[in-house]
Order: sequence, then C-alpha cells, then structure tokens
Amino acid sequence: MASSGENLKDLEAKASAMEQQVRNLQSQLRDVASADSPHLVTLKAENEKLEYQILHLEKSIAAEKKRGCAGAVRSASHMTDIVSHLRQLFNSAITAAYPQIQKPSALIALGKKGVDYQVNSAMSLTKELKATGVNANPRQIAEAIVKNCPSSDLVDKLEVAGPGFINIHIKVSVVSGLLSDVLTHGVRAPDVGEKRRVVIDYSSPNIAKQMHVGHLRSTVIGDCLARIIEYCGHDVLRLNHIGDWGTQFGMLIAHLEDKFPNFESESPPIGDLQSFYKESKVRFDGEEDFKKRAYKNVVLLQGGDKKIRTGWSHICEISRHEFAQIYSRLGIGKELVERGESFYQPLMNDVIHDLKSRDLISEEDGCKVLHLKKQKVPLILEKSVGGYTYDTSDVAALRHRLQEEKASWLVYVVDAGQGLHFQQIFEGAKIAGYSNDSCRIEHVGFGLVLGEGKKKLKSRSGDTVKLKELLDEGVERSAEKLKERGRDEVLSPEELAAARDAVAYGCIKYADLCHQRTHDYVFSFDKMLDDKGNTAVYLLYAYTRIQSIIRLAKSDSGALTARAATTELVLGEAAEVKLAKHVLRFAEVIQRIHEDLLPHVLCEYLYDLSTHFTEFYDSCYCVEKNRETGEVLKINWSRILICEATARVMAKGLSLLGITTVDRM
Ligand code: ARG
Repeated sequence: MASSGENLKDLEAKASAMEQQVRNLQSQLRDVASADSPHLVTLKAENEKLEYQILHLEKSIAAEKKRGCAGAVRSASHMTDIVSHLRQLFNSAITAAYPQIQKPSALIALGKKGVDYQVNSAMSLTKELKATGVNANPRQIAEAIVKNCPSSDLVDKLEVAGPGFINIHIKVSVVSGLLSDVLTHGVRAPDVGEKRRVVIDYSSPNIAKQMHVGHLRSTVIGDCLARIIEYCGHDVLRLNHIGDWGTQFGMLIAHLEDKFPNFESESPPIGDLQSFYKESKVRFDGEEDFKKRAYKNVVLLQGGDKKIRTGWSHICEISRHEFAQIYSRLGIGKELVERGESFYQPLMNDVIHDLKSRDLISEEDGCKVLHLKKQKVPLILEKSVGGYTYDTSDVAALRHRLQEEKASWLVYVVDAGQGLHFQQIFEGAKIAGYSNDSCRIEHVGFGLVLGEGKKKLKSRSGDTVKLKELLDEGVERSAEKLKERGRDEVLSPEELAAARDAVAYGCIKYADLCHQRTHDYVFSFDKMLDDKGNTAVYLLYAYTRIQSIIRLAKSDSGALTARAATTELVLGEAAEVKLAKHVLRFAEVIQRIHEDLLPHVLCEYLYDLSTHFTEFYDSCYCVEKNRETGEVLKINWSRILICEATARVMAKGLSLLGITTVDRM
C-alpha cells in the first residue's frame, strides 16, 4: 500500500507537470500559429507527444488507484496494524477528493459505542482547504472523503456522523481472518518503517550511593521501552550509564586507605558501602587533613594513578555486586551493558579539543562553557578549578553513541528533574554538529514515587526506602496473599514460589508502568496487590484462567496452532466480536508507544483485554461439562481458539512490560 500510494503521488505529480508543459506549449503555439515560424512544426510534434504521454499517465493513474483498493484488499490478510492500514486508505481518499492537499495525514482514532474507528480529519482539512481557496464545511468534506474512499476488504461500512466524523465499521470476516493469523503466525509487531540502531540509557545508579526508587523507575520503564523498541525490529543497545566517576571517590579512597591499608593486595571487606560512604563524608566535612587528601586523590584518579585506580575499582566492584542482586531479581540480565561515566573520560578531552578548535567554547567565570540559544544557561564543560562535569560526560556520551555506535535514535530514561540538563545537552550537540535532524533523540522523563499521603516514600521504620527492602516486602506480601487464597494447598512448592515471585515483581513493575510516566504516583502495596483492580495480579490471574480453560479442553498452544489452520473462527456473539477486535488492536497500541514512548497505554490495553475476555467467557461457553460428573460433553473449538489468541497477545504484552507469566497460580 505504501509504495502504491507513493507511486500514485509520483504519477500525479508528473501528470500535472506535463499538463503545465502542454499549457505552455499551447500558448506558444497560439503565439506562433499566425506567424510563419520555423519552430511551428517542432512545437506541434512536441505537443502531440506530450498529449500522448498524458493520456498514458492518466491510464496509469487510474490503474494505480484501482490497485490501491486492490492493495488494501490484498494486504488485509497480512496486516498487523489496522490503524496504519486505515490511515493509508483514508490518505488515498483525501488525495482523491482533494488533490491540492499535498501531504494528507488522516487522523484515525478509536471509535465509541459500537463504532470501531473514526476519522477525525475533516475539521483540520477545512482550514487547509480554505487556504487553497476551497470553502467547505467539515461535514461536506467528510462526505467527499467517504465518496472517494477506495473500496477495501477491511471496511464494512462508513458513515458520516456529527459535525464531520467518519465512523468506520470493520468487517467481521476480516477480523476472524486476522485472528487466525495470530494463531498460525504468532503475534506480529507493527510495521514501523525504517529500522534504526537505538541506544537506550536507563537504570544508571551511582556507585557507593543507594540505588533508590527513582532508579527503579528508570530500570522498569527503560527495560520495557527497550523490549518494545526491539520488538518493532530495531537494533537496540541498552546502556547503564552509572555514576562511577567524580569527586566523591576522593574521600572514599582516602577512607579506604585508612581502614584497609592492604587494599592493593587484597580486596577490602566492606560489608555496607553506604555506611562506608557516610563515614567518609563525616570525615570529609570535619577533618581538614582528610579533605586535603581527598582532593589530592581526585587529581590522582583523573591522572590514572595505579594505586588510586585500584581503590576505585574495588569500590565500583562492591557496588556492582549490590546492583547485580537487584537486577537479577527484576529479571534484568547481561543485555544491560554497563558503560558508566568513567568510560567517557578519555573522550571528554577530545570533545573539548574539538569544540575549541571550532571556536565554540567561551570562558565564563573561569569556566569553559558552550553557549546555547534556546536555553539561557550554558553547558559547563570545564570547571574553573579544572575537571570535567556531568555536562561534559553527557556531551561525550552522546557523540560516542552517534558516531561510534552509529545509532540514529537515542533514548534517555531519566527522572523528569533532569529535563533541563537534557535539553541543554541535545541543543549543545546540535550546535556542535554531533547530531542532526535525522537523529531521533529523546529524554524519557518520569515523575516521583510517593508514599501514602503523597509524601516522600518512607520505609516501615521511617527511613528512606532501600530497594532491596522494598522488593523483600513485595515478596513477603505476595506470599501472604497467595496463602490467603489457599493457593499453598493447591500448588506444588515450586509452583507456589514461581507464582509468588511473578506476582511480587510483576506488581511492582506494573504499578510503575500503568501510570502515565510523567506523573508522580503513590506507591502502595495494598493497591498493587489487589486482584480486582488494574493490577498485575488481576492480569496474571486472567492469563492463568485462560490456560486452565485450554487445559480443560485437553489442548495446548502447539495443538491449537495446528487446529487453527483447519478450523474456521466463527464470530457470532457480540462478546466474541468485541474481544476479537480488541485482540487485533495490539499492534496499533505498540505502534503508538513506538511513537510516544508512553507504556501505560499497553497496561490499559491489557486491562481492557482481560475485562473483554471476562465478558466473553461469561456469555459464551467454551467447554460444556456435565454439572454432576464434571465430564466434558462438548468443546467449542472456535472459542478455544479465541481463548488461545487472547492468551498469546496477553503473554506477549506482559513480556513486553517485563512481567513473567505463570500457567498456574
Ligand atoms: N547517574 C545519574 C543519576 O543517578 C543518571 C544518569 C542518566 N544518564 C545520563 N546519560 N545522564 O542521576
């Protein structure tokens, strides 16, 4: 469809250019007709040739338009994303109705009350057309679009509604065909066009400091977006930009020298790095000599002193070990590559050198800065006392990611509080010529995690919450919940443990992901473990329920794939149609997240999927049993297939959120 659409546009552009040429020629002909011009013959011949070519082109255009409709029909069975398909269809319709609209982009929204989708373009087209001298109201425009819409296998009915909306009803036969495709070919990702190399920067805690809930948000959101972007076919590099460099190492190493003088030959047994950090901070603030040594150590560290570097790497190693425990519990593996600030140390010299050589650096209060236009505050690249900054490392990192990693899409999942920093970095990179308009570069910001009463999140004892303790509490509460439900009597110890972890980590992740990420949210175990609301527990139960229906039919995923090839999917009941249509919206939801990087839409989608499933299951029997004996009397295979397609989309969706499903819980 896309290529056919482009072809059509090319042809039409050619035709109109030729028509203009013909008009020019004809006016020349008129001028010379009376005179005895030697060019007359040539001009006439050229005119004839052009007129012939136009005729030919017009034929091609007509054929191409037909093919456009046929294309819609043909690709309907391979389509993954209904909205993109409709967009193309209505773009053709707009072009056909109003050729003067250069780049139509039909706005397709989800319909309301029994309407599948809606085209909301007529309002904006009113203005655009007015600019070209056409006066029409939105309703007239909507009617013209409907009249010019190529026929499509997908569309059952179009109707103009209200002030100028176009309601679209999808054909049920197409829905059942597409649902079969989910069963025979699996859940397909949307076609997002050009594939990019993507670097996504997330998690990024700081060495020797606590990994806090802000880093948890970054980890959960970053992991989810990385999965979605990868699922769409991009080549993704996940980077953990840890804070492993900076002045705090001076005091940490000075303290290390005093407490574990042998640290060069044996690794120091620091049990609690955070307390170690606090101790050294107290000394730094109170002991003048210590402070001096700390400063000296920073200089030595930057100069590559062997002993100081050894101390530095011991401290990093201890932190790394702590982080790894959290990551393993969250199911984050080796795919998240550690590449902290220290990695960019040598590259920062290059950046400064490069910018200086091109006169982009100015001195201000002894600092080396890069002035920006959109932002008042300049980027500070070198401090007055010497030494680089957070800004410098991010400029060097951005440059490295684009130039060395060859990425053309950069994502930074970092709290919204750093928004200004990233705006500065992105603008600076543009001024420096490190990035250009073809690069997609985004700061994916997020709000705070609050405790009950919308205050700062505190632990039960009133301290700041340690991530480890938070996860422990989640596991504990999830175990209690399962016990309350008597699941410990039904499940094997292994199944129970798997369910406990799936619920605990799933709930924590889901609670984070289901809120629009730019907002703050209140962290509440009670809410997130509620099995009736929009929570991971609810979804995990819905998933296991479908699995148990499939088990009741004595089938499984493999057998159902085979059965799908020979069983017709009958969508008769309203609840069946509603569920099936919702299942097919999956790719369009992913497509949307690919654009705006807002994963809560996937949570909403999955929640609706499970409520539609409940409605379906309540009104459509799948397996008929003898009430007394429990013996299976009849299996409705078409409906079992609908169950399986729902389960597959649900499993895919949950896995993109980073949530593990279990078959029993
Ligand atoms: N370590 C930083 C912090 O905890 C986050 C780093 C984010 N990534 C980046 N490229 N600046 O605030």
